[in-house]
Amino acid sequence: MTKLRASRVLLSTQRILCRNHDAPQLTTGRHCVPPSPPAAPVQLAETYGNVFCIRVGQEKTVFVCGWKTVKEVLVTQADKFVDRPYQAFVTRLCAPLGGILCCNGKTWRTQRHFAMGMLRTFGLANGTLERSICQESQHLQRAMEEHKGELFDPADLLNRAVANIICQVIFGRRFDYSDPKIQQLHENLTDTFVRLYVPWAQLYNAFPALMKRLPGPHNGIFTNFQALQEFIGAQIKSHKLALDPSDPRDYIDAFLNEANGELGFTEENLVLCCMDLFLAGTETSSKTLQWGLIFLIQNPQIMGGFLLKDACPEWNAKWPILA
Ligand code: HEM
Repeated sequence: MTKLRASRVLLSTQRILCRNHDAPQLTTGRHCVPPSPPAAPVQLAETYGNVFCIRVGQEKTVFVCGWKTVKEVLVTQADKFVDRPYQAFVTRLCAPLGGILCCNGKTWRTQRHFAMGMLRTFGLANGTLERSICQESQHLQRAMEEHKGELFDPADLLNRAVANIICQVIFGRRFDYSDPKIQQLHENLTDTFVRLYVPWAQLYNAFPALMKRLPGPHNGIFTNFQALQEFIGAQIKSHKLALDPSDPRDYIDAFLNEANGELGFTEENLVLCCMDLFLAGTETSSKTLQWGLIFLIQNPQIMGGFLLKDACPEWNAKWPILA
């Protein structure tokens, strides 16, 4: 186990949990909760043992099946498996610095710790995040009301609203929904997500030398990244002009204050870190809101009881427009 080297390690306990009488009960009727992964790896484990490997081109994936083996990977030998896998796609985009999402070791720990600290300082401290969210919900509400009750897809608006809240933490400002900059940011982020999970990206990881030379949708990710880098780079440039080291306004200012070239604190890496915060925060939060909306629409009785003035009068006094 300690000599395992792989592009990816996939863990599968669920099927086994569903069958294992000693394990926690995870089945409801015919279904596993959460749903089981496809049965193929489990069937292969029955033939090849709990640790086996599948190789596609350059990409080697090690499958780890079974409660005990997965526990060994995640708990007993966690330190040996904590690093991220090598992926040609990610390496071309982020090497050698890695931002937050694509780096390892001490740099990763430092950058993660710094980002968490900054999210707390510029987000949770002094109610700044709460204020930004409330203001953004007013803009969102107005934008939705512009549809005058007609059917529309709220996904784009929710994405922009969430991206704006992250903009507040990172850039210290929001963008109007009609601002081409936020539209471009939002399009690049959404498109990157779509392209990251199509087979082309997997083919790139498997056959990088070939895919680099081929046209195809995978190249769109590099164009998107370039556009995102330029947008964030421009924000960093304007921050540098107005930087007051004794009074950092946002994540970028705080990072520039630390920029001594060590442990990822370089301007080049700042661009990647900002991009990571957008990539990690936008789609996740926006999809959560979309699901929340669907559940409220399907359960109007809950929506009726969701009036803030009943739920929290003090909050309502602070933000009367949302009442
Ligand atoms: C509903 C919203 C969200 C969900 C469900 C979610 C979920 C997750 C999960 C499961 C991880 C991996 C666990 C870990 O590495 O600790 C993660 C990592 C991360 N999230 Fe979120 N997240 C959400 C919102 C956000 C937001 C708003 C931000 C920032 C603005 C953010 C930034 C990050 C970062 C930077 C990481 C990477 C940590 C690392 O690799 O060290 N996330 N998120």
